[in-house]
Amino acid sequence: MSFPEHRPRRLRRTPAIRRLARETHLVPSQLVLPLFVREGISEQVPIGAMPGVVQHSLDSLRRTVAEAAAARIGGVMLFGVPEKRDAVGSGADDPNGILNVATEAVVSEIGDALVVQTDLCLDEFTDHGHCGVLQADGAVDNDATLERYTAMGLAQARAGSAMLGLSGMMDGQVAAVRQALDAEGFTDTLLLAYSAKYAGAFYGPFREAVDSQLKGDRRSYQLDPGNGREGVREALLDVEEGADVVMVKPALPYLDVLADVRTAVDVPVWAYQVSGEYAMVEAAAAHGWIDRRGAVLESLLGIRRAGADAILTYWALEAAHWLRADL
Ligand code: PBG
Repeated sequence: MSFPEHRPRRLRRTPAIRRLARETHLVPSQLVLPLFVREGISEQVPIGAMPGVVQHSLDSLRRTVAEAAAARIGGVMLFGVPEKRDAVGSGADDPNGILNVATEAVVSEIGDALVVQTDLCLDEFTDHGHCGVLQADGAVDNDATLERYTAMGLAQARAGSAMLGLSGMMDGQVAAVRQALDAEGFTDTLLLAYSAKYAGAFYGPFREAVDSQLKGDRRSYQLDPGNGREGVREALLDVEEGADVVMVKPALPYLDVLADVRTAVDVPVWAYQVSGEYAMVEAAAAHGWIDRRGAVLESLLGIRRAGADAILTYWALEAAHWLRADL
């Protein structure tokens, strides 16, 4: 009988060796918690398709952000759910609009204790639910939308947002917002470009979370799920336009794109584990079909392994507590 020449199992024998041999690590500072704040409510409202996630009132938002700071996660990403909507999304750049009011409230409460980020997109604020303003024929008008984004970006910077999450997938949005910010002296405001954002089914539960008015789809601006190279191209363009961080979204169905973007750029690369990814695990776990904690941590680790420096995830707080307990 001949002995095996190679024994990779040696590196897996004990928990101590496995811990030392682990290539990829996940720590709370790599997690960003998306939060929804709804105008005109005093009690938080549960989101049916995202068990455990709620629409916050201003008060419950403040409490949760304080909790996030205490848990020392990387940051929070705020989304606003306005009471009134119109064709151009006026609430988005109104200093009294819910997202700007919430940003100011949160920043005045926690300061620089964690990175307060804001979604820069019109879809929550338009009555047609699209990420931009529309032409007469109903198509999204790219360049007119850029003017709305620069106004929205300035309003968010004035409200104290440290990082603007450009999630609308309009051409030239990073350069346009960067120029407008710089011209007003907001040279320190960070830009997170949702560079490779794919059109598809995984945003379904989020649309309930923000009470989206969208009919139709976003396929004329978000990427086709079959296109990996195009995702890399978008990331390269965003870096050229001045993005401080680029992102791939959703995460799990696009790990190949994440890995390719990681090798193509030298800025941080983040991933968004979106609402549909969250809902799938929660639904299976609720049936007892999957180990919830195991599946959550394994999915986050896999996203890190593929190349994400940080991850937006609705499990950020809970995962941070689990990771601390495991130390
Ligand atoms: C656009 C935006 C969306 C998400 C984040 N920013 C929705 C969309 O593109 O339809 C989805 C996030 C998720 O599904 O968790 N403002």
